Amino acid sequence: MVSGIVLAAALCLAVVPTVLPAYVGETKIVCYYDSTSYFREGQGKFDVNFLDPALQFCTHLIYRSAGINADSFKLVPLNENFDVTKDNYRKITELKRRFPTVRILLSVGNGDDDQNTEKYLTLLESVEHRLAFVKSAQTLVKSFGFDGIDLAWQFPTNKPKKIRGKISSFFNNLKKKIVGSTKVDEKEEEHKEQFGALVREVKNVFKQDGLIVSVTNIPNVNASIYMDVRTIIQNADFVNLMAFDYYTPKRNPKEADYSAPLYSLIDRKSDENGNALVKYWLDNGAINNKLVFGIPTYGRAWKMTEDSAISGVPPFEIDGPAEAGPYTKHDGLYSYPEVCAKLANPNNLKVSQGKHLRKVGDPSKRYELWNVIDVSKRFGTYAFRLPDESGENGVWVSYEDIDTVGNKATYVRDKGLGGIAVFDITFDDFRGLCSGDKYPILRSAKLKL
Ligand SMILES: *[C@@H]1O[C@H](CO)[C@@H](O)[C@H](O)[C@H]1NC(C)=O
Repeated sequence: MVSGIVLAAALCLAVVPTVLPAYVGETKIVCYYDSTSYFREGQGKFDVNFLDPALQFCTHLIYRSAGINADSFKLVPLNENFDVTKDNYRKITELKRRFPTVRILLSVGNGDDDQNTEKYLTLLESVEHRLAFVKSAQTLVKSFGFDGIDLAWQFPTNKPKKIRGKISSFFNNLKKKIVGSTKVDEKEEEHKEQFGALVREVKNVFKQDGLIVSVTNIPNVNASIYMDVRTIIQNADFVNLMAFDYYTPKRNPKEADYSAPLYSLIDRKSDENGNALVKYWLDNGAINNKLVFGIPTYGRAWKMTEDSAISGVPPFEIDGPAEAGPYTKHDGLYSYPEVCAKLANPNNLKVSQGKHLRKVGDPSKRYELWNVIDVSKRFGTYAFRLPDESGENGVWVSYEDIDTVGNKATYVRDKGLGGIAVFDITFDDFRGLCSGDKYPILRSAKLKL
């Protein structure tokens, strides 16, 4: 009897979870919010009022609207008129009254003028410039009530590679060995160390006020060249890995391929995929739960020609970016609702059958038909329409859908990573145009985590 009670008590104790501070086990859903979405037209136009249904899913909101003044190296609003005069910074931080658990950060870097990576490097090179940046960041963040800063630092990106088969890549490697590789940045070692120093300097000042510092590894910035993993992990609260845009119409105007594969594709360069990026950070000392895996809410779209593969299976020859979508008005880029509108679905029966894009789900699913279980959903989804008789109107788009986001969320869970970052919520279906559900991509990420 007594021993029964003891046993019961012991069992009871065994199932009581160890009490941990809430943030340790928190799975992050980091929602990026691009300020320029306000200036899109029609159904693409986004403003603060659309945030409510998203914020029930987000643990962090990262507002992309800060830049660097090239003369003073101070952190400044990207759009002074919109963010300060018209009070947008305040409107955003005031959301904390209704969503007190959501942490709201201001992001600098990615999204700033693409042509001006130079000032980001010049800033790093001098201790005084870094100090000017850190002090101004502290002032700006505190005076508008943000909870911290996201350093989505700009660095020179990898040169696009031709997508090659095994044989030509053998010759190419041989050529590289003979010719030697040319560096894009002569001072890359210094820049790596200096960026680590900047992250440490920002954290040292920010921690006095309990402010958060995150780092974002932007697409095609080679982590092994620019990211001092140990220093960054020691000082940043978390790191967002933008594991996409490996292939885009801008980088690869002649060849189309999956833009955000999770694992290496057969016969392709092996290091341009999400898992390779995660592996690099982990192998170099990153703690799993500080890494937040980034997924896109948009697709990359190319123009198919008569010479493109009729099967739609990439990689193949292509003729530059596809025509811009009606909302985003950006060649070669479709937001999730723009892709959805092009697929056959009950909402767009007006569009004649032949004009729809045909969706092809992750090919690893096909194995399931043959009873072979392939757990690594490695590719992604695409949709395409072959060119018509006159050779026009061909489209091929690689995009993230509800299933592939679910696959990536499962990957995040299996690897014990810190969560998912959504780039960005203004390209998700925030109006619910596609199926009636608002924010289907964000919702799917949350559901599977
Ligand atoms: C990143 O840089 C390393 C070292 O220079 C190189 O081996 C690797 O291939 C690069 N990765 C990409 C994706 O270019």
